[in-house]
Amino acid sequence: MKRVMSVCILSGLVSGFSPAIMSAKTLNGQEIFTRNCSVCHSVMPPPKNAPPVTPLASRYHQRFKTKNEGVNHLVAYLKSPNKDNAVDPQAITRFGLMPAQILPDSELRTVAEWVWDQYNPNMGMGGGMGRGRGLNQ
Ligand code: HEC
Repeated sequence: MKRVMSVCILSGLVSGFSPAIMSAKTLNGQEIFTRNCSVCHSVMPPPKNAPPVTPLASRYHQRFKTKNEGVNHLVAYLKSPNKDNAVDPQAITRFGLMPAQILPDSELRTVAEWVWDQYNPNMGMGGGMGRGRGLNQ
């Protein structure tokens, strides 16, 4: 009897809780990155099979004055990667072109803002591929 009870309680818990977990929760940038981008991108060097995010964020900060401009460019790039718009065309030679990222606009924006925020001034600009010595990680 005791066992039956606990099975009932357990299944009650499972069916009671899972809809709450599955419900449309807004993902933050890091979660979107982990789900969709981290198969190819590490955050800090060494690279997986794409350039790590922190040096990419440096390039974005170097090239764009405002977060808005940088994020707009990145969202456009994620939708349709191409050599002419890449901030780091050499990465295409090294890793191949990134496939287009099929995600809702809101998620692309959130993850692009997160990428922008990974800028770490302690790593320096440019060829930061070698040593990952961010102080903030
Ligand atoms: C299948 C592997 C793969 C996935 C998944 C992937 N990328 Fe990439 N990404 C690449 C490669 C390879 C490059 C370098 C070549 C290029 O720029 O196209 C790149 C380049 C980039 C760049 C540099 C763009 C530029 O302007 O030069 C950024 C930023 C970036 N990825 C962010 C992301 C984000 C954010 C996601 C997830 C939404 C993502 N990537 C998913 C492989 C991937």
